[in-house]
Amino acid sequence: MARFRPADFPPYHLLDGDYTAAEREAKRKLERLYHHTRDKAWDGREVLGEALERHGGIQLPDHKREAIARIFSIILWGELAAWHIGAELAHMLDDPEAKMAATGQAFDEARHFATMRDYLLALGLPNLPPLEPFTREILRDVLEAESVAVKVVGMHLLVENVALTLFQLVAEGETEPVLSEILPFFERDEARHVGLGVMHLPEILKKISWLDALRLQAFQVKVTTFITWGTLNLRKDFHRIGVDPHEGMTRGLRYQQDVYGRVDPEHKSRGLYRPSSFLADLQSKTVGVLFPPKGEEISKWHSGLISVMGGMAKATAFAVNRVSSDGPGLSEPVLEEAAA
Ligand SMILES: [Fe+2]
Ligand SMILES: [Fe+2]
Repeated sequence: MARFRPADFPPYHLLDGDYTAAEREAKRKLERLYHHTRDKAWDGREVLGEALERHGGIQLPDHKREAIARIFSIILWGELAAWHIGAELAHMLDDPEAKMAATGQAFDEARHFATMRDYLLALGLPNLPPLEPFTREILRDVLEAESVAVKVVGMHLLVENVALTLFQLVAEGETEPVLSEILPFFERDEARHVGLGVMHLPEILKKISWLDALRLQAFQVKVTTFITWGTLNLRKDFHRIGVDPHEGMTRGLRYQQDVYGRVDPEHKSRGLYRPSSFLADLQSKTVGVLFPPKGEEISKWHSGLISVMGGMAKATAFAVNRVSSDGPGLSEPVLEEAAA
């Protein structure tokens, strides 16, 4: 799992007859991800250009454009982070088949970043908003991690899962027709990237120590908590673009546990955080309180509680922003708008 050391180069064992036959048979599916990347590659300029032409550009009032920009800046910077992680994993993973899958991912993510950047610029806003602070912390953690396990769990199981959920909800709704048209292209590629995590993670987890497994579990709890706070920060923007945060959180958590089940169906791997039924129930009740289902009548105290929690998310976002930002961070008006 170490980075390639020049002293180990070239790795002649990769040409050993027995090794290649046994390994390649076991890793055939992983290698297939690389070939699918090549076969299913699409041209971002063409897909976005044709969608813009078909719909006569982006036809939306300014407040909706701003809401889309705030939410999809998460995707934009998430794509850049995923591009870096894919390239890092192509370097860090040992197996050629896993390296091939990671190389394919880096190729996809470069296209995703460029296409999303072109889409956000086509919104025609004078400035694109900075990244939501909780999301920024998650992406920085994954980028800064030395551990391959943290990178794969963080990016391939957690961040990709958020992106997939958001793509589906926006494509299903009536947010904006150009966006609804381009997102399924992203979604297909992201499913392959989750596949890399699902297929290769069991082998990575076999090799981590108990201490690293505990650290990895704590990291997953932190990411899930930060996703919840970030969603609370942006809840009004989600409503503005017709995405129900209740459905987003509920579906996202379900997908997360589904994907963990595919990595480790028998609950034997250390390092994956699987809440007990009591904690899972508490988690879903918390989601129900913070993000009431669309159309549900809520009492005054409940609405007041959400406002208080929203204020806490805002205050924590300020703290996170102040402590660790060396970039522009969220401006006061943007934060007020997002957390009001
Ligand atoms: Fe992507
Ligand atoms: Fe991805």
